[in-house]
Amino acid sequence: MAEELTEYSGPATMEKITSLAKRRGFVFQSSEIYGGQNGAWDYGPLGIELKNRIAANWWKEMIQLHDEIVGLDAAILMHPRTWEASGHVENFTDPLVDCKKCKTRFRADMIPDENLASKTCPECGGELTDTRKFNLMFRTHIGPTEDNAGLIYLRPETAQGIYVNYKNIIQSNRMKIPFGIAQIGKAFRNEIVTKNFIFRTCEFEQMEMQYFVKPGTDVEWFNEWKKRRWAYYEKLGVKMDHLRWHQHGPDELAHYAKDAYDIQYLFPMGWRELEGVHNRTNYDLTRHTEFSGKDLQYIDQDNNNDRYIPFIIETSAGLTRTLLMLICDAYDEEKVGDKGDADDWRTVLRFHPLVAPVTIAMLPLMKKDGLAELAQDIRNELKEDFATDYDQAGAIGRRYRRQDEAGTPFCVTVDYQSKDDGTVTLRYRDSMEQVRVPRAGLAEKIRQEIKAYKRK
Ligand code: GAP
Repeated sequence: MAEELTEYSGPATMEKITSLAKRRGFVFQSSEIYGGQNGAWDYGPLGIELKNRIAANWWKEMIQLHDEIVGLDAAILMHPRTWEASGHVENFTDPLVDCKKCKTRFRADMIPDENLASKTCPECGGELTDTRKFNLMFRTHIGPTEDNAGLIYLRPETAQGIYVNYKNIIQSNRMKIPFGIAQIGKAFRNEIVTKNFIFRTCEFEQMEMQYFVKPGTDVEWFNEWKKRRWAYYEKLGVKMDHLRWHQHGPDELAHYAKDAYDIQYLFPMGWRELEGVHNRTNYDLTRHTEFSGKDLQYIDQDNNNDRYIPFIIETSAGLTRTLLMLICDAYDEEKVGDKGDADDWRTVLRFHPLVAPVTIAMLPLMKKDGLAELAQDIRNELKEDFATDYDQAGAIGRRYRRQDEAGTPFCVTVDYQSKDDGTVTLRYRDSMEQVRVPRAGLAEKIRQEIKAYKRK
């Protein structure tokens, strides 16, 4: 077995990724004209395309390819008792310390032990406060008054919307155990530390799937979902030596978990959690039974109407964190010339074509002589099936570079020969190879290329 990488040695840095993301319209700081809002980010034209495609790909992988998994879109605002039952009101806390001198706020578990023991600030050496518990849920009020009667939380995980609907879905869709319910949606956490760009934010999106199984089969299903989620990243063309498993120790396990593994990715700032696979036992449904007074047992009609509270295996990935991971993973700098200037190098995002924000860019060699019109015409044809872009500004080499930086896997160039013989040039992002192909077979050729795509 290959030895595990200890540190990131690729060309990306978080500064380069943040700057590229802004420059190319992937991600902007929220409310930038007012100085920015900590913990919140806006997804620009390329960012939303990338995010939508990651979500669509996950949805296909988790729902379309599984007969026994269905989707849900539950509300962000849930009855406040939900969060008492789930244990979040009591347990969803981070340990917090403040520096009395420089006023910086730290997560106590993220500063060196010696600072904690001596109560000295790692930034300025000032005195730290005692550690106290800080609940990460955002609170707000529903209705016209701001008293406790209207207290409501922004959901800190999408999972609970699934648990409270589990009986509805069994009834409406005649689900039989084992089965799953999947959901993609926003979640909110009042994170004490939000650094490393979009890695840890206060507003983010999750892609979660809850798999309901018979007690006693949970360990087997837990291992099965670990295998499936690992295979998913392989299929997405992620560098597999940048992924590893991390099992939660007793002090890391969430209040609901019997066993939990993170898939960690080697980001430029080091190994960090990307997704969690959790054995949540029957904790959540048992608690919702107690708090709601509703019978949430499953009735096994195929087995003498046996009744039990199912165990739940959860796969929980961050959508926005996956987006960051995919940009870091795709980021490359390559020497492509020898003229001694900036054009010798290209920055390229080697996204899998299934998630690339733009699949095909149409580039007429010239604006004149009907080439622009011909390129637009071909683009209009391809639009039905692919995300396309059109660029007629500047030298063709520069336009290829712009598309490389946006991660566009295919460029199609229209030139004078195209007018004569109906062929175009197809240029591949990764190899920069160019081939002449008939316009008529272009869509099919690209479909085949996407299917056969393998990251080099
Ligand atoms: N339902 C289980 C759950 O929420 P979690 O480990 O707290 O488990 C799951 O979160 C995933 O959600 C993480 O692996 C991460 O990808 C993403 N995530 C969690 N907190 C986040 C934050 N503050 N910003 C961005 N993504 C976050």
